[in-house]
Amino acid sequence: MSTPQKPLSLLTIFFFFFLSPSISTNPPTPSPWPHQFHALLFMNRTNTLQKLDLWYDWPNGRNFNIIQDQLNGVVKYDLEWNNGTSFMYTLDPYNKECEVVHVGVGILRPDWLEGGNYLGQERVDNFLCNVWEKVDFIWYYEDVVTKRPVKWIFYTGYTAHVMTFEVGAVLDDPNWQAPLYCFSEAEKERVSPILEPAMKGGSFSRLMRGIDHTADDM
Ligand SMILES: *[C@@H]1O[C@H](CO)[C@@H](O)[C@H](O)[C@H]1NC(C)=O
Ligand SMILES: *[C@@H]1O[C@H](CO)[C@@H](O)[C@H](O)[C@H]1NC(C)=O
Repeated sequence: MSTPQKPLSLLTIFFFFFLSPSISTNPPTPSPWPHQFHALLFMNRTNTLQKLDLWYDWPNGRNFNIIQDQLNGVVKYDLEWNNGTSFMYTLDPYNKECEVVHVGVGILRPDWLEGGNYLGQERVDNFLCNVWEKVDFIWYYEDVVTKRPVKWIFYTGYTAHVMTFEVGAVLDDPNWQAPLYCFSEAEKERVSPILEPAMKGGSFSRLMRGIDHTADDM
């Protein structure tokens, strides 16, 4: 009666020692971004705080960063199209500024975090998170339970704290229309004193697009 049990126990041992460890040691993978969402981010770049509305809209090939510096009434709009054209502008009647930039890369793909290195779990902003790092460019914290992003940090120290994350939220079409003064040659060529500091080097948009760019170069 004891012989028929032997194959069974061997099988059990096989499963226990060979299969379960390989399952449990597989590092978690970051959730792809939902194809459409709205997130409100609080940004911190060494003592400059910003409120950033992020409207990610992959099916329509567009991404919007609407940025307001702390206690600064001039809101900056950074509208990116997947064809590589970005419109950066203000809608302030006293500060009509616009810059059109051809950046040569599209918006982030929903799976842009793929291939990131898993660094384990860490408690940040009061949430237990899985942490990944990608190409020494970004550190990304995702809630272990809800899989929502909680925080990310660029290599520059520029940090995003995710305050709201509405999956499926889409900004109405009329809001994606850049103002008329973006389409006049004079405005296009002018270097804008308002937009320059916020949008150039180290800007959210530049950094976000840089991830894909850096990853492609490797
Ligand atoms: C912003 O980041 C700096 C470090 O870069 C930190 O000292 C400061 O406390 C942060 N401010 C807020 C409001 O989180
Ligand atoms: C990219 O798409 C936007 C929106 O449709 C358009 O305004 C812009 O001219 C396009 N850019 C190029 C280089 O085709």
